Amino acid sequence: MQALLAALLILGPWVAPVTTAAESAATLVTRGSSRGIPACASCHGATGSGNAELGYPRLAGLPAPYIEAQLEALAAGRRQNALMNAVAVKLSAKQRRELAQYFAALPFEPVSPVPARAQSGAGAELALHGRWSQNVPACTRCHGEAGVGVGERFPPLAGQPSRYIESQLLAWQQGTRHGEPLGLMQGIASHLSASDVHAVAAYFGVPPSASGDAPGGDAPPRAGGAAAGDGEPPPGERALPDGEFGKAVLLGRRIFEDPATYAKDYVGNALACSNCHLDAGRRADSAPLWAAFVAYPAYRAKTHRVESLEERMQGCFKYSMNGKSPPLGDPVLVSLSTYASWLARGERVDPNLPGRGYPRLPKPALAADFQRGARVYGEKCALCHGAGGEGQADHGGHAAFPALWGARSFNWGAGMGSITLAAGFIKANMPYSEGGSLSDQEAWDVATFVDSHERPQDPRFTGSVAETRAKYHDGPDWMYGVEVGGHVLGSDSVPPGPTPTGPGPTH
Ligand code: HEC
Ligand code: HEC
Ligand code: HEC
Ligand code: HEC
Repeated sequence: MQALLAALLILGPWVAPVTTAAESAATLVTRGSSRGIPACASCHGATGSGNAELGYPRLAGLPAPYIEAQLEALAAGRRQNALMNAVAVKLSAKQRRELAQYFAALPFEPVSPVPARAQSGAGAELALHGRWSQNVPACTRCHGEAGVGVGERFPPLAGQPSRYIESQLLAWQQGTRHGEPLGLMQGIASHLSASDVHAVAAYFGVPPSASGDAPGGDAPPRAGGAAAGDGEPPPGERALPDGEFGKAVLLGRRIFEDPATYAKDYVGNALACSNCHLDAGRRADSAPLWAAFVAYPAYRAKTHRVESLEERMQGCFKYSMNGKSPPLGDPVLVSLSTYASWLARGERVDPNLPGRGYPRLPKPALAADFQRGARVYGEKCALCHGAGGEGQADHGGHAAFPALWGARSFNWGAGMGSITLAAGFIKANMPYSEGGSLSDQEAWDVATFVDSHERPQDPRFTGSVAETRAKYHDGPDWMYGVEVGGHVLGSDSVPPGPTPTGPGPTH
């Protein structure tokens, strides 16, 4: 008891300013200040839920670092909005931080999960599938399933007024909002037409009419959320065939995008096939299924024999998915090859279709370098994949950004562990939505960095790292068995196969 009192006495002076800070933020929010800062609540609502009629954003429950960064951008004019610029310039750095913490801590009832609403139409198509012909991924890939947000840098879209979402996409198009991480949204917005903007804002957002007399944001679930384009066949999605064949195609696609749910017996990590074969296996230069289907059976150096497509995919489960191979004829493999065959319809039988596999880059001018790769990683990859390569889950706990190394990633036997293959994939497809933007040198360097970290053991491990390297990882393409920073890679790997860990940290 005495110790507690003593501790309180010592802590006292430190606790007090925190309380004052909270109070002063609360005062700014509800009453503003004599220095001419208007009450935040007058526009954002007393509960921070925004105003759907006027398109003022929800602030409650947004990540504090995101709010703080936006207040800075609004004060510095990187983000232009007459109403908010006038407010932000009057705030001190300390007030920005305290207000960010205040709003981040406000409870926010997530609005209805978007998938309960209309699943078709142009808005849903962009939100759930993107438009890969223009390098636009699904909005939900970066903003989380149903737009709940990912980590501290990818804000939720759910609960934002549709008018606000629309205004922000237009602001990126017009250049009045910029300076955001990696310029991701500027690039994405530049590919959207006026009707795309309207449709996708309607899909995620709270409609004006839902706000009633109070600030919006806590709108009830509603049907038919996707406005423009309702009823049109979604572009880029050919209608699924009917009958049993169509069911197998659909199951194959589901397994490909979510094997942890649809093929869970064979999966040992938090990855999906589509993490490495983008756009659900359709994207050229990310080893698309249509090009694979017409190339098998084929000889493979890895196994020294001719393999059917199903045998090839058995290997994907064992190595890339760090799981175990489904037996030949298993519905998992049959559905996956049915899906591949459907994607390949109309293609000619040819093992060398342009776009097959990952591109092979010319050798770099300078020998690939771990340190340079670490720098590229910190600047262009850590935002999503995490500083420790651990990946991130969204705020609903669904896998969002895959793990690049560690226990939740592919094992040492997987193709992505080859620096040549990783460099080709990364050059063509990363940073996400900005494929092709790295130099070849950067791609080689960062691939070397990614492939120089521990991951689950090679299932073919002989008991000796040196021997396993000699048998399966000989040559400059593999870091397995190589010493990096005093550690021999492969010497401290967790055993291959399922790990108890979930889809990734959520922060
Ligand atoms: C006069 C109305 C008004 C007042 C008062 C106001 N805001 Fe805003 N706020 C807006 C508008 C409008 C936007 C959207 C700006 C844009 O379109 O870029 C906004 C945007 C924001 C954003 C960005 C949100 C996001 O999701 O990116 C933050 C953060 C913010 N306001 C915080 C505050 C704080 C804190 C206060 C009180 C100190 C405040 N606002 C007072 C109108 C207001
Ligand atoms: C490659 C990742 C990525 C994809 C895909 C993506 N976004 Fe974003 N988005 C971001 C990031 C990062 C931010 C935060 C920007 C900042 O910090 O200013 C953001 C912010 C936003 C905001 C501003 C939210 C706010 O509170 O102000 C809107 C609106 C938005 N995105 C809409 C979309 C829509 C619609 C799509 C799909 C067409 C989409 N985004 C796809 C990365 C992405
Ligand atoms: C805006 C977020 C984002 C950024 C930035 C980003 N990635 Fe990714 N990355 C993803 C997503 C999302 C996927 C999965 C693709 C999918 O499912 O559509 C992915 C997949 C991958 C994969 C294959 C999956 C795996 O676990 O091995 C590798 C390798 C990869 N990224 C490397 C990189 C590298 C290297 C960089 C930096 C040059 C980078 N990424 C930058 C989001 C990002
Ligand atoms: C960690 C990344 C990763 C994951 C996850 C992954 N793959 Fe792959 N996949 C690769 C790499 C690397 C290759 C070889 C590409 C090359 O040779 O250019 C490949 C090749 C393939 C091929 C042969 C392509 C061709 O043209 O020869 C098929 C088919 C395939 N994968 C299916 C799958 C399936 C099905 C899953 C899920 C069960 C899956 N992959 C999961 C990385 C991955």
